[in-house]
Amino acid sequence: MKITFMGGGNMANALISGLLNNGFPTNEIEAIELEEEKRDRLQRTFGIRCHAEPDAETLACDVLVLAVKPQQMHAACLSLRDFLKRQLVISIAAGIRLKDLSRWLGGYKRLVRAMPNSSALISAGLTGLYAPSGVSEAERLGAERIIHAVGSTLWVNEEAQIDALTAISGSGPAYVFLFIEALQQAAAELGFSPKQVRQLSIETVLGAAKLASMSEEPASVLRERVTSKGGTTEAALRVMTKREFKEAIIAGVKAAKERGAELGELLGKE
Ligand SMILES: NC(=O)c1ccc[n+]([C@@H]2O[C@H](COP(=O)([O-])OP(=O)(O)OC[C@H]3O[C@@H](n4cnc5c(N)ncnc54)[C@H](OP(=O)(O)O)[C@@H]3O)[C@@H](O)[C@H]2O)c1
Repeated sequence: MKITFMGGGNMANALISGLLNNGFPTNEIEAIELEEEKRDRLQRTFGIRCHAEPDAETLACDVLVLAVKPQQMHAACLSLRDFLKRQLVISIAAGIRLKDLSRWLGGYKRLVRAMPNSSALISAGLTGLYAPSGVSEAERLGAERIIHAVGSTLWVNEEAQIDALTAISGSGPAYVFLFIEALQQAAAELGFSPKQVRQLSIETVLGAAKLASMSEEPASVLRERVTSKGGTTEAALRVMTKREFKEAIIAGVKAAKERGAELGELLGKE
């Protein structure tokens, strides 16, 4: 399976690294990247062939991964439309809808929308996938095989769910980093050294996430189990609840979903 990446930035690097680490042959991956410095880096780091612009030979691939920024997608698609024949096209761009992609690609229909998250950089990502009914089972499996190289996958049945998923797992690492930041500030204010602050905050989050992933119990039950009546955790949670900690997260996720829909609408006007 030959794969060509359009755009050789952060996400393309994560995916290429994951594919190579999973035994994918170097000579079956190519990239099209505008910037010479980034092309050189891709070639040096991964040993893959890189090109400055699309042509028939580069696009004689089985899968084309669109990994440019959402606002660069329209121009990128216009440069690709003459070379598309039977390739499966996977877009990882936030917000861009398949109907707009298809229009920009001259009515092309063999399209999959994917939403990875930044943990893909360490092959621990979660990627949401959506394929319309025209995409075959074999093509879905091909898309899944590629995306699986950087973590787990979750198929959704409606494209709108990709916007919802973007607000949870796509933006989610930022919410967790904010939580870590707050924990670190609190630990520093309680007198711990920078090294201790880092260890305390990150290992607490890692351990709790691992415990939640290994337990059959819902998070609320795990929380109650560490909250003794009249104890320290209860004192903390009382203050956090009063300050609407949970409601703030829920409202934030909903705002992210709305912004995703707005961006899709805005970028789709081109
Ligand atoms: N990073 C994340 O955590 C994340 C998570 C989920 C989804 N995504 C999606 O992944 C996509 C890529 O994000 P990224 O962070 O990897 O962006 P990025 O680092 O900016 O990479 C995009 C690359 O594509 C190049 N490019 C732009 N137009 C091109 C064209 N017509 N032909 C060839 N190359 C072109 C850009 O060059 P220039 O630098 O010269 O513009 C840049 O090097 C985005 O659509 C984003 O929504 C990212």
